[in-house]
Amino acid sequence: MKILITGANGQLGRELTKQYKKDSNIDLTLTDMAQLDITIVEDVYCFINICKPDIIINCAAFTDVDKCETEVDLAYKVNTLGPKNLAMAANEIGAEIVHISTDYVFAGTEHKQLTEFDFVNPQTIYGKTKLQGEILVTRHNPKHYILRTAWLYGDGNNFTRTMINLSKTNAEIKVVNDQMGTPTSTVDVARVIIELVKYKNYGLFHCTCKGECTWYELTKEIFRLKGINTKVLPCSTEEFAREAKRPKFSVLRNYMLELTGSDITRNWQVALDDYLK
Ligand SMILES: NC(=O)c1ccc[n+]([C@@H]2O[C@H](COP(=O)([O-])OP(=O)(O)OC[C@H]3O[C@@H](n4cnc5c(N)ncnc54)[C@H](OP(=O)(O)O)[C@@H]3O)[C@@H](O)[C@H]2O)c1
Repeated sequence: MKILITGANGQLGRELTKQYKKDSNIDLTLTDMAQLDITIVEDVYCFINICKPDIIINCAAFTDVDKCETEVDLAYKVNTLGPKNLAMAANEIGAEIVHISTDYVFAGTEHKQLTEFDFVNPQTIYGKTKLQGEILVTRHNPKHYILRTAWLYGDGNNFTRTMINLSKTNAEIKVVNDQMGTPTSTVDVARVIIELVKYKNYGLFHCTCKGECTWYELTKEIFRLKGINTKVLPCSTEEFAREAKRPKFSVLRNYMLELTGSDITRNWQVALDDYLK
């Protein structure tokens, strides 16, 4: 089976590459910005017509949530048009598409776990562009898998790495304690993708680790597991002015994975412990 991964140098792209490389039946083609800019429609058609993958896994995205607020056109190009281009080109050759989305498609104002059947209402440019990406992938290729994940960490820049780095130069760190979500390892998301694809289980899926916490609680757990003594102080969202509004409660329930017996994700603390080792 031939698989094309776009955005292969990102956190999720790297993990998927690692897991798929263990399978000798998989013929992998890896691209990032330099090899294939997903925003350029003619390049996408040309590349895919030559490569002829069975499956395209789109890990490319403009993930800087704050920058998206000011670089709106780029955000729509990468997060909406890019996935649309890939979905159209895949459809033309009968290939499947896997696309990754986000908890930011929800407003996150209610204290309630969100399923795939809940009302979407993005509050940021990032969330709006990602939601439109989902809609256009769905519209342009019936053979789609869309996975919404959240608070992702893996091989790359992420919150966990930032906190560990900050602990090296600070005796105490203030961390937001009024936003809840679920830290999710790229290992779990990659495993789920591989399983969904194996059984052609198409559709929209929430895909996070299990459980929930605040950024403050996550930092405390990172430091506990790493034996770091830096003091962690809780603070409110208002104390940290950011360009993009953050959802207060964006805990996703992997309801479609549960219903189809495919929820193989781990508890967030277990996955984090594994990552930090
Ligand atoms: N990170 C999170 O917390 C989080 C949470 C929820 C959902 N997600 C979603 O999960 C997916 C994977 O996220 P991630 O954290 O692995 O992302 P990432 O580490 O930021 O990787 C994204 C990759 O896409 C590349 N890229 C950007 N624009 C491109 C373009 N026009 N053409 C081709 N490649 C391009 C980037 O290259 P450059 O580095 O050169 O720009 C980078 O290698 C994304 O769809 C993201 O929206 C992430």
